[in-house]
Amino acid sequence: MLYGYNLGSQGLVHWDRFALDNHNSVILGRSGAGKSYLAKLELLRSLYRGIEIHVIDPEDEYARLTQAVGGTYVHLGAEQVRLNPFDLPLHTRPDGRRTAPRDAVIRRALFLHTVIGVLLGSTLTPTERAVLDRAITATYQRAGITTDPRTWTRPAPLLADLAAVLEQSKNRTAQDLATRLDPYVRGAFSGLFDGPTTSRPEGHLVAFSLRDLADELKPIGTLLTLDAVWRRVSNPALRRPGLVVVDEAWLLMQEPAGAEFLFRMAKSFRKRWAGLTVATQDSADVLGSDLGKAIVANAATQILLRQAPQAIDEITSTFNLSDGERQFLLSADRGQGLLSTGTQRVAFEAIASPTEHRLVTTDPAELAAMAESSAVAEGEEPYLDLDHAEATGSFADHHSDQIDLDIA
Ligand SMILES: Nc1ncnc2c1ncn2[C@@H]1O[C@H](COP(=O)(O)OP(=O)(O)OP(=O)(O)O)[C@@H](O)[C@H]1O
Ligand SMILES: [Mg+2]
Repeated sequence: MLYGYNLGSQGLVHWDRFALDNHNSVILGRSGAGKSYLAKLELLRSLYRGIEIHVIDPEDEYARLTQAVGGTYVHLGAEQVRLNPFDLPLHTRPDGRRTAPRDAVIRRALFLHTVIGVLLGSTLTPTERAVLDRAITATYQRAGITTDPRTWTRPAPLLADLAAVLEQSKNRTAQDLATRLDPYVRGAFSGLFDGPTTSRPEGHLVAFSLRDLADELKPIGTLLTLDAVWRRVSNPALRRPGLVVVDEAWLLMQEPAGAEFLFRMAKSFRKRWAGLTVATQDSADVLGSDLGKAIVANAATQILLRQAPQAIDEITSTFNLSDGERQFLLSADRGQGLLSTGTQRVAFEAIASPTEHRLVTTDPAELAAMAESSAVAEGEEPYLDLDHAEATGSFADHHSDQIDLDIA
C-alpha cells in the first residue's frame, strides 16, 4: 500500500499492515492535519485489493467517496434507520442458514451493559449491574428468548421492553435506572431505539454517517455501529480481509465503556483478518486514559500528523520522539507526518492522484468549484444523497445544514 513520498530519501513509502499479525493503525493529528484524507486514500487503495471496508463517519465526509465506488451509505439517526442493540449475534451463511456463537445470549447481556453505561454516561455500580442483569434476562424471556438456541431467531426485544421491566420492578435501583433511560425510550432520543433493526448492510464498502444524530447520541451511535460491523467481521463465513475505519474516535472514547469496547474489538480483530483504523484529533483525551494509551500502543501502525502545541508533550513522551521529530510534527504541512511501525519510523507526505484527490478532498473551495463545473455539465446540483433525501423527505444538500423548505 502506497502511503506517500519519503521526505528523507525522495523514495516512496509503502507499507502493508496486513503483512503484520496486528493490522490496526492509529492516525493522530490536530484538526485539519489530513487524518481523514489519509484514511480515505488508504480506504480507496484497499478496495483495489478486495478488502471489505466499513466506515464510521461522524460527519458526511465519506459520502461522495462511497457513492463514487458503489458502496452503501447508511444515515443512522435519520427517520426509520435503526440498529437494535438487543439483536442476538446471528450469522447468515452463504447457503442462507443462520448460526450463532454458543454463548450468544450471555455475550449480548454483556454488550447491553456497555450500551446502558454509554447511554447513562456513567460506570454502573455493582448493585446497578446486578439489577440490570436480571432485568435483561427477564426482558429476553418476555420476548420468548431463553438460553435455548431454538428460541434465538425470534424477534429481539427493544430498549422500551427493558425499561418496562425495570419500571415494573419493586426495586428502587431498577426504577431509578428506568427513569434515567426515559429520554431514550419516550423522550427526545427515542427515535434511534423504537423499533427493530432496519438495515444489515453488506458489501465491499459500507459507510455509516452519524451526522443526523444529536450530539448526545453520537457516542451510542458509534457503539451500535461498531457492534453491527463486528457482527459482520466476526462472521465465520466471511473469507476476506476487512478494514474498519473509525474517524473521530474520541467521540466513543470519551465514554469509558466506549473506550473499553473499542479496545476489546481492536484486540480481537487480528483473529478475524481485520484491521482497525482509529483516527482522532483529541490526542490529549485519548492518551490521557489507560485504555486510550493501550489502543494506541497496541496498534502496529502509528501515524502522527501535525500536532497542536498543547498536545506535543504527551505525544513526545508516548512515542519517544527526538527533538527533531518533535519540531517536525509541530510544523509539518498538511498531509505530512511520521509513519511509525514499532522499530521503524519514517517521515512521509501523503500523495494522491488527481482522481483520488477529487474523491477525498473536503476543501470547501474545491468542492464548490467541482459542484459548479459538474452542475454546468449535468444541469443540476451534484452529489445529492438520494437515500438521505428519501428518508427525510427533503432534498438537503449534505454539505449544508439548511433544509430547502420549498421542496420539503
Ligand atoms: N495530503 C493532502 N494533499 C492535499 N490536500 C490535503 C491533504 N491532506 C489533507 N488535505 C486537505 O486538507 C483539509 C483537511 O484535511 P482533513 O479533513 O483530512 O483533516 P483532519 O485531520 O481529518 O481534520 P479534522 O480533525 O478536523 O477532521 C481538507 O480540505 C483536505 O482535502
Ligand atoms: Mg477528519
